[in-house]
Amino acid sequence: MTIFICTNCGYGSASWYGKCPNCNQWHTLIENSSFEKNSTVKKESLKKVKIVSLDKITTKTLSRTKTGVYEFDRVVGGGLTEGETILLSGEPGIGKSTLVLQILQNLPCLYISGEEAAEQVKNRALRLGVNLKNFLFSSDLQVEGIIEVAKEIKEKIKVLVIDSIQTVYSKDVEGITGGISQIKETTKKLVEFAKKNLLTTIIIGHITKEGDIAGPKTLEHYVDCVLNFEGEKLSDYRLLRTTKNRFGTTDEIGVFQMTEQGLKEINNPLVFINQNKDNPPGKAIVGINEGKRPLFFEIQTLVVPTVLAVPRRVVKGMDYNKVLLLLAVAKKYLFLSLDKFDVYVNVVGGVSIKSPTADLGLIASLYSSIKNFSLPVDSFFIGEVGLLGEVRPVFFEQKIISEGKRLGFKKSFSSVNLSNINQIKNYLVK
Ligand code: TYD
Ligand code: MG
Repeated sequence: MTIFICTNCGYGSASWYGKCPNCNQWHTLIENSSFEKNSTVKKESLKKVKIVSLDKITTKTLSRTKTGVYEFDRVVGGGLTEGETILLSGEPGIGKSTLVLQILQNLPCLYISGEEAAEQVKNRALRLGVNLKNFLFSSDLQVEGIIEVAKEIKEKIKVLVIDSIQTVYSKDVEGITGGISQIKETTKKLVEFAKKNLLTTIIIGHITKEGDIAGPKTLEHYVDCVLNFEGEKLSDYRLLRTTKNRFGTTDEIGVFQMTEQGLKEINNPLVFINQNKDNPPGKAIVGINEGKRPLFFEIQTLVVPTVLAVPRRVVKGMDYNKVLLLLAVAKKYLFLSLDKFDVYVNVVGGVSIKSPTADLGLIASLYSSIKNFSLPVDSFFIGEVGLLGEVRPVFFEQKIISEGKRLGFKKSFSSVNLSNINQIKNYLVK
């Protein structure tokens, strides 16, 4: 049977379309002949699988290299591991290339850039104080060619950087550079090469705010470590977070500030909080344990009467479905009739909160907005909220509470003083 495959998104169909029904690109469907060798399993006879006893397998401890950027080393689990492939993703302009140049400060590398010319990279590297002696550069973008050269010089370098995966291509597949079939093939080849030759490889990938379907998200299962660099371009602060890490945990977070001299490492857990002290309805501070240290964030919720049949829920910085669930819990246990209201939720600073520890704070800010009363000044919230409205203790609760006290907060709300969310009512102030 002939099938047609979209060279942009990989969509397969028995009939040809001028416009791909999946990604809406024009003239991207081609007959599958060129794809067959990569993706189709031929009919074959029964083959028994080979088995081996694990105690006969010899293992090698992979060595780690510290980059000297403490926040980065901590997030990846103690430095770069040899042979690992790291996918560093983030929006264009957020600071990915800058971060990579800084971690290469003293590491010999081969840097492939399809984004910037050699002079541009050199100027920036000089400004950031990178040692240029062992910094090899190319703007040639065929992945097979890159791998061939990296193989020849692998004794001389510690890291291979691809900036960005959307600009390199493989000679072996058809499809637009940056399209799904190209970025999958190039990533697969780079990962295989990195493993075999024990060369750490960093792949930079652009994603858009919407999460971009045809983007690096689809590459996450090929690589060993996925780092996301996030923040708002208008604010200087950036968060580095792992969502996958074969050689470490995924709960460490790195905090940076973009300055004239590049990225500065930040230790202050209050950087994401608006420093002005006023406390309008809808604002709640949450304390969260991220890896080894607490961080504080500001959640803002705006609840306004809707003009629509189905009210709007717009969420930035938290999981959308989680917010819907918490709205349902609030509806039942705080007796809020939310069906006639639009709800907008935002986390200040362009960062996102993944931890359930922020549940209680979200509910408090929602309640505060809809009642048009403020939450107590200098207070913060910690706690996971269950489907019955109960406030659950979280790991390291006591540690976050004492850290909050030390930083000048006067009151904390958690499972210690609230057993159910309906007790929030007692604390609103005009
Ligand atoms: P960049 O690393 O190029 O972003 P990405 O690779 O993610 O697209 O950096 C983007 C911005 O950072 C750029 O607009 C300029 C700013 N910047 C500074 O403010 N200070 C610096 O020292 C550097 C190198 C960049
Ligand atoms: Mg860049």
